[in-house]
Amino acid sequence: MKPAFSLCGRSDVYVGSAAEILSDVLPAGRVVVVTDATIDRLYPGLLAPYEKVLIGRGESIKTLRTVEELYRRFIELGVDRKSFVLGVGGGIVTDVAGFAASTYMRGIGFGFVSTTLLGQIDASVGGKNGVNVDGYKNMAGTFTQPRFVICDPAMLRSLPDREFRAGLAEAVKAAVIADAALFARLEASAFEALRSDAALLAGVVSAAVQVKAAIVERDECEAGERRKLNLGHTLAHAIEKCSDRMNHGEAVAVGTALIADAAVRLGVLASADRDRIRGLLAHLGLELTPPVPMARLLREVGKDKKSEAGVLHVVLPTGIGSCEVRPMTRDAFAALFAAE
Ligand code: GLY
Repeated sequence: MKPAFSLCGRSDVYVGSAAEILSDVLPAGRVVVVTDATIDRLYPGLLAPYEKVLIGRGESIKTLRTVEELYRRFIELGVDRKSFVLGVGGGIVTDVAGFAASTYMRGIGFGFVSTTLLGQIDASVGGKNGVNVDGYKNMAGTFTQPRFVICDPAMLRSLPDREFRAGLAEAVKAAVIADAALFARLEASAFEALRSDAALLAGVVSAAVQVKAAIVERDECEAGERRKLNLGHTLAHAIEKCSDRMNHGEAVAVGTALIADAAVRLGVLASADRDRIRGLLAHLGLELTPPVPMARLLREVGKDKKSEAGVLHVVLPTGIGSCEVRPMTRDAFAALFAAE
């Protein structure tokens, strides 16, 4: 099977059946799977041929401690520079497995089977991996491209509605950044249709990955344009730091709605487009009210890792399918929400 996208000439993204694609893309030699107990239970046949290392579940395990445990298991198993790590799971598994593989013995080959919508659309694609430190998101990590990412839409059937919806928030984000047609397709699709119509879903995943692939191709290490992929994330990361009530995608939905409001106040986004952004997120069943007061979120924003010498690179939607990155001091950013 041909990849749907090839990023930076060395990371192939496939959209299709994991079982069929894996045998074509795995290198000869030793393969060690990193996954979690749920995925191991759901796909016994797919993973049966490989040695496996299981990690825990949830954002709380995305730590250096888990990476160190992986290194130890790799050493016990005799994983060497010629071995290949296959991360199978959602964004947490692929972030941690990618970081461990890209640093173990100064880096060994790795690839992913991405099993969640959020993972397929965003987390597993593009070469960012890493872990949180003291609750601060992705403070340690590398930019290292997986050799391949397999996005199997059939695997999304087993996702709980809540997790599926969280992934849709990233699809809306991609659409707002650069794909007005994807935005309109999502507006015209009921949540239930996205859940049940495999072709519709595969099209949404491909379109969202296309947005990301095109941006990463131009700016792999986030010196400029890749920052656009952080739309809604400044406030989302603060929400995740302050509250465990929302998962990443849910927090991105709130952050995207709030930054759209701010963009209207700044005069760069028409209020009709803001209404469409809010309307689409709500149509997909995403909550748009922050779970903690704005003042508390803004205090956290100062510690966001994307703040460089006190300057945030704020992503402002300027239309449906377009946005700009504007450097702003933390105080200027906070002032945007003074009336909230
Ligand atoms: N999730 C944002 C990025 O990969 O750049």
